[in-house]
Amino acid sequence: MKSFASDNYSGIHPQILDAIQHANKQHEVSYGVDYYTSKALEQFENIFGTVKVLYAFNGTGANIISLKCCILPFQAVICAETAHINSDECGAPTQNIGCSLLTLPTRDGKLTPELIKPLLSRIGNVHNTQPKVISISQSTELGTVYTLNELKILCNFAHENGLLVHLDGARISNAIASLGVSLKEATVDCGIDIMSFGGTKNGLMMGEAVLIFNDVLKENAPYFQKQTAQLFSKNRFIAAQFIALLTDNLWLKMAIHANRMAQLLAAETSKIPEVKITRNVDANAVFAIIPTYAIEKLQHKHHFYIWDEQTKELRWMCSFDTTEDEVLNFVRTLKELIR
Ligand SMILES: Cc1ncc(COP(=O)(O)O)c(C=O)c1O
Repeated sequence: MKSFASDNYSGIHPQILDAIQHANKQHEVSYGVDYYTSKALEQFENIFGTVKVLYAFNGTGANIISLKCCILPFQAVICAETAHINSDECGAPTQNIGCSLLTLPTRDGKLTPELIKPLLSRIGNVHNTQPKVISISQSTELGTVYTLNELKILCNFAHENGLLVHLDGARISNAIASLGVSLKEATVDCGIDIMSFGGTKNGLMMGEAVLIFNDVLKENAPYFQKQTAQLFSKNRFIAAQFIALLTDNLWLKMAIHANRMAQLLAAETSKIPEVKITRNVDANAVFAIIPTYAIEKLQHKHHFYIWDEQTKELRWMCSFDTTEDEVLNFVRTLKELIR
């Protein structure tokens, strides 16, 4: 059964698996002082310029390390209500850092200065947690993508108000594939201070990279990584995966494909009069409402999640390994169930 549930249902890209095999040939120095970790750093520097790179086992870990670098326990992270750090990390940021999250409802998963401004009146009031970081997801949990202009406006606004910008890039590859600009242009050049570069949802067995651009945040980062139990003694196996991912833009090719499959899925399902595509399909997620009687039957054939139990809005995710045939097969099944 091919699933449209999540891009982490997919397996490992063969080139990534080969890279793990390659790194398995001999002994290497542990804790990231190895050939593979320094080669991966070189590749990240070729893309971003000067950057500090640390690794995490998963996206939650990468977010905790990143936010820990930015914040003190009496400070707060501003994020969308839909942000993974708020809705899907079991309170990990607040538990691990002691900070609070100031969440904002959004129309499309994206934060804007207008939404954030009312929270700034807290600054300097000892009775309030102090906003310090704006955390955004790119692409967002609602499948939308911030434009370069939106990113620049948000980062300038943050910095003018003494705030930092964290980017949860679990799906940064899909966002870049959608924007058609370089990784550097859409991150450090816009003013992002710290971000995660997702691997797990784009063909890795596991692993995310924390990329730190703001010099002030670099010094304490390795200690936070260790304290957060995210320092892998055999780091070469994460780094080797990133070497393969970054070589010849494999990350981009996979993300372009996943996004194209989402476009196909949206185009084909929207031809069915009973199906409503509910959100912009900017990256690799399609949100839809279909007749409720068909949901469970469709789930028996292709696993996917109901995004909103109240409205019965569904989320269909495409991966680097989703094929056109699988998309068309899904659409065929849906048509048969609705008939
Ligand atoms: C936006 C976003 N950030 C981070 C993550 C990482 O989560 P995990 O800790 O499960 O790897 C996910 C996974 O669903 C995500 O969608």
